[in-house]
Parts: sequence; C-alpha cells; structure tokens
Amino acid sequence: MESGKHGIDGISPKPVTEIFKAADLQIEMAQTSAKKPDPNQLVFGTSFSDHMLMIQWTAARGWERPQIKPLQNLSLHPAVSALHYSVELFEGLKAYRGVDNKIRLFRPMLNMQRMLQSAIRSCLPVFDPKELLECIRKLVEIDREWVPYSNAASLYIRPVFIGTEPSLGLKITTKALLYVILSPVGPYFTKGTLDSVSLWADPKYVRAWKGGTGDCKVGGNYGASLYAQSEALAAGCQQVLWLYGDEHNITEAGTMNLFLYWINENGEEELVTPPLDGVILPGVVRQSILDLTRKWNQFKVEERSVTMKELVNASKQNRIKEMFGSGTACVLCPVSQILYQGKNLHIPTMENGLKLTSQLFENLADIQYGKMKSDWTLLVV
Ligand code: COI
Repeated sequence: MESGKHGIDGISPKPVTEIFKAADLQIEMAQTSAKKPDPNQLVFGTSFSDHMLMIQWTAARGWERPQIKPLQNLSLHPAVSALHYSVELFEGLKAYRGVDNKIRLFRPMLNMQRMLQSAIRSCLPVFDPKELLECIRKLVEIDREWVPYSNAASLYIRPVFIGTEPSLGLKITTKALLYVILSPVGPYFTKGTLDSVSLWADPKYVRAWKGGTGDCKVGGNYGASLYAQSEALAAGCQQVLWLYGDEHNITEAGTMNLFLYWINENGEEELVTPPLDGVILPGVVRQSILDLTRKWNQFKVEERSVTMKELVNASKQNRIKEMFGSGTACVLCPVSQILYQGKNLHIPTMENGLKLTSQLFENLADIQYGKMKSDWTLLVV
C-alpha cells in the first residue's frame, strides 16, 4: 500500500508524542444487527452500520484505548467547543466489495494524512495515521456485511474528530473525541451517477481564502457554504461554482474539486485543475485523476488557475471538451452549464460523449471494485 503524502504548505506535523494503538482495541459487539438496506434504494448517508469506533483524548491523560462499540448516540456537555466554535473536522473514504467478494479501501492513507493535517490546523491532538487506519480496517471487517453487494454502491466511512472542551471560553481544547461511523451509500446526487449538474457562479460568496481553512476538511467550510447553495438552487442551478479573487478564478464546485478538459489558449489538449494553493481541498479522487492521466500521457495535465474570462473565451471558441467535479462521495460529476453574470454558459460535456469523464470513472471503479490490480487499495478482508 502507498504511504501517501498529502501536505498542506506551511504546516508540518508535530512529532507524535503519545499515540493510541490498534493493538489496544477493545471490542464490544452489538447484540442485534439492524436490517440492511436494499443497495438500489440507498439515500446517501441515511443508514448506518451496527458498530462505531470511539477514541477519547484528554490533555491530562493523553489517548485512551480505542474502542469499537455498538452504534450509539453521543452524550456531550452542551458547552462543548465543537458545537460552539466548530472545533471539528471530518474525513470521507469508502470501502468497496470487489468482483472477487474481497473488501478494499481506496487510497486510505491519503485520508489519514489529510485528517492529521486538519487536526493540526484545528489544534486537536495528533495521532499516528497508520494506527487509526488499522482501527478503521478492523471496524469495517467487523461490519463487512454492511459493504453493499453491488458494483454501484459502497460503504462510506466517516471519521470525525471533535473538541469536547466543556467551556464557553475559546481556547485550545483539552478534551477531544475521535469517532468513525459507517454508512452504505449509492450515488451521491439523487439524479444518479454521471448525470450532469448546472453551476451558479457568483463572486459574492467565497468558499475559502488564502490563509484560511479551505485546504482542511473542517465542518465549518461545509456548513457555511449552504447559504450560497440555497441561492444557486433559487437561481435554478444545482451547485455553486466557487470563484476566488479579482480575476474570478474557478476553484471548486459544491463540495467537489473541479477539472476542465479543453484545448487551451496555445492550442494544446489539456486537463487542468486549480493548484493546491491553500483554497483547494487536496482531494483523494483529484490526486488519483492527476496520477492516472499523467501516467496515460495522452494530453497535457496541469495544476494551475483558470479564470472565468478564459472559460468564457474557450466556450465562445468551442474549445471546451468536458468539465467535471470530483470527490469521494460522488466520484465524478459532469458539468453541463454555468450561470455567470446573468448568462448561461453551455459546457458540452454530455454532447462530447463524456469520453474522458467515463474513462476515468471506469478506471477508478476497476481499481475500487478489484477488477484491476493496484497498490492504491488496502485489503480489509
Ligand atoms: C465527500 O465527497 O466525501 C465529502 O466529504 C463531501 C460531503 C459533503 C459528503
């Protein structure tokens, strides 16, 4: 398995001084098992498996032994810092049931590394990503029957890390809880896999800014995006195209990284995505698309900024081939339209036959569902 090297510029991990160990896991099995949902009827993130992982931390005692327990409600003091000041972060990764009936995680170490970076940025305690990954692997192994028997569904793994300081004073937390829950999921968007979305692009809202937390997976980034999302819906669009800066650089779409496949200004066939400059989440699917297409070596692959002006010009000159979002939940999501400055910009992703989008989607699925051998997957069981 790869080691993963997601970094956030300017933040180097503090040495791990005290860590929890997967070898210390305590396991309490559920007495009953909930009914598993039909894999064809799954609504994203609404059903949950029988068990969860919980690991408590206090500044005074360090990490406690990790525990796998029956899924249960949390009991929290109403003053905890996660609820008042968003001392909180999360991750999202998936387990897939392969064609060989083996269960695999897709590039999980990249999620563990990113989670560590988010923890450092949130002043939450550090942990050893390898130990957390082994605890998660064990949790998925225990709930393996919750990994859907379907090549159109998967088990979404949601690690969460919250500050549980029971105080209204804003300070670095001295208490924290890391937990992981599992949810069998189908396509993220109700319309289905590889259906296109329209985007609403208005610079009056920004998702993230240089020096902010846009490159970390903290809950505040997501909750604060809903107001713009509601305006996008009111304008008849499905997602927000997040712009940044005076030049209206395109950054992300909804909760996804964004890719443009086009003939660039120099007449070159190119796949381009915004660079990891602090406002972009270092997505695992984003990284995988870059890694795959660079290996294919069929066209130029670049991480650089693209402005709305460049996009509008490319549209006028018929130079856009495909545009799509990427993320763990949706995997890939084609873009067909952008509403910008009162005008609808048509993006011909669908008419162009989704060539690159579906090639990438299938290549990723072949790896995830074990049809293609790859060192990007970790075998659970
Ligand atoms: C993911 O794509 O995994 C995300 O974290 C987005 C979330 C809103 C479901």
